[in-house]
Amino acid sequence: MSDRTLLLAGNWKMNHDHLEAISSVQKLAWALEDAKLDDSACEVVVIPPFTDIRSVQTLVQGDKLWLKYGAQDVSQHAPGAHTGEIAASFLSRLGCSYVVIGHSERRADNHETNETVAAKLRAAVEAELTPIVCVGESLQQRQDRTHIDFTLGQLDESLAGFTADELDGLVIAYEPVWAIGTGETATAADAAEMATAIRARIGEKFGTGLAESTRILYGGSVKTANVAEIVASADVDGALVGGASLSGPDFAALCKAAVAK
Ligand code: 13P
Repeated sequence: MSDRTLLLAGNWKMNHDHLEAISSVQKLAWALEDAKLDDSACEVVVIPPFTDIRSVQTLVQGDKLWLKYGAQDVSQHAPGAHTGEIAASFLSRLGCSYVVIGHSERRADNHETNETVAAKLRAAVEAELTPIVCVGESLQQRQDRTHIDFTLGQLDESLAGFTADELDGLVIAYEPVWAIGTGETATAADAAEMATAIRARIGEKFGTGLAESTRILYGGSVKTANVAEIVASADVDGALVGGASLSGPDFAALCKAAVAK
């Protein structure tokens, strides 16, 4: 049994405006209380669109909720002339704990490369945000059996130039692209195989301390019905959940199922 805290993070993607966000987080908090879950069992994180974060902050602080929140992306730049960008320091000021970096939808829609991911990671580390760095292969790569080499290559390039100290607290999300929003879930064995390979690679590059402390999540069609099996693997420390995190009560049920594994 590792001493890594189970992490359940809900990536809302471009869903819920700020009013819907307030309602969803309130319902999540009530349902977590009903389920008798608290931060001794797991960490629960919501990752709403940027425009919701201030509202979520006000609710979390006002009601002293134990859940945490984060952002779905961050600029690689310091504050300045970068129209439309959001600086890491702004997210810290809003009380964000986490930031997702290099989600496959951003890699596809916004042409983000591993180099971009490394630059954003640098900005997140400097602002003391905990990064959730996303990696994962396409269906073609899995069929060609190159998925492990490809995903470890993404990892290597995304973490290039960092020291183990800088990466303290790191979270990696393994999200095979073919499993995102498709209803296709990687088997628990597939998720475990990749998580173990990622942990080993972090050990080779950064030492066993960081390998042991890094949390590795699985993401891709995670639901209440399959989460327990996925997080039962020794190297899988939680889940990055899309669709099944949008309803507060449903996400609380998923968290409860994960804790009960
Ligand atoms: P789904 O859970 O909707 O498949 O999304 C997964 C994901 O991309 C989380 O970041």
